[in-house]
Amino acid sequence: MFLSVNVDHIATLRQARLGAEPDPVEGALLAISGGADGITAHLREDRRHISDRDLTLLRQVITAPLNLEMAATDEMIAIALSVKPDMVTLVPEKRQELTTEGGLDVRGQKQRLSYVIGKIQSEGIPVSLFINPTEADVTTSAEISAEMVEIHTGLYANAVGEKAKATELQKIVHVVCIAQNVGLISNAGHGLNYRNVSAIAAIREVRGLYIGHGIMSRAIMTGIEKAVRQMRDLIRQAG
Ligand code: PXP
Repeated sequence: MFLSVNVDHIATLRQARLGAEPDPVEGALLAISGGADGITAHLREDRRHISDRDLTLLRQVITAPLNLEMAATDEMIAIALSVKPDMVTLVPEKRQELTTEGGLDVRGQKQRLSYVIGKIQSEGIPVSLFINPTEADVTTSAEISAEMVEIHTGLYANAVGEKAKATELQKIVHVVCIAQNVGLISNAGHGLNYRNVSAIAAIREVRGLYIGHGIMSRAIMTGIEKAVRQMRDLIRQAG
């Protein structure tokens, strides 16, 4: 199963000080050393975490497949066509949201999405649509010629109790089967972490997982002791 690591949260931490570190490009290289098959970055309209500089450098430095997450706007189409990521994932974007809150309104935005997919595919870049696990969204995604869908796993990840989790998981499994029937590649992502990933990773028809927050949260916790020790050593040596 393909694992694409989202480095947005490294940039979020950098932007808290508007400085140079931590650098998501360096983080991406470390993620690849750790076994990531690909890297994902979401260039938002407000540039609240990933910047144009990050995207350009990621394209130059990362040899693993680069997935650009973006809104279906003219500005982002132009950037995608110039940076040429290995794939584009179209996502809905709201300024006020903390993170991507739901899948695309594929039916409501059918015409616009179809236009954007065509533009991006014309440069040979495959397109994935971030969708809620519904039958209608997956069949509409196929109608407008996306190559892939990324099934939103947020409701599954946030479900409370075994029964609710099983219900959400079932919806995902069902939609993945429909995607396969209509010739779409299925990926999955959002809210996946060390406690809930296994059930999704066990769905054989899912090609890849797109994970950010859970991995970066774990990286902080597993790195604190080492980081403090390094600082202690420096202070001890100076004194
Ligand atoms: N997939 C998409 C389309 C997303 O927008 C995000 C969040 O940026 C993710 C996957 C990763 O979600 P998380 O950070 O919760 O792992």
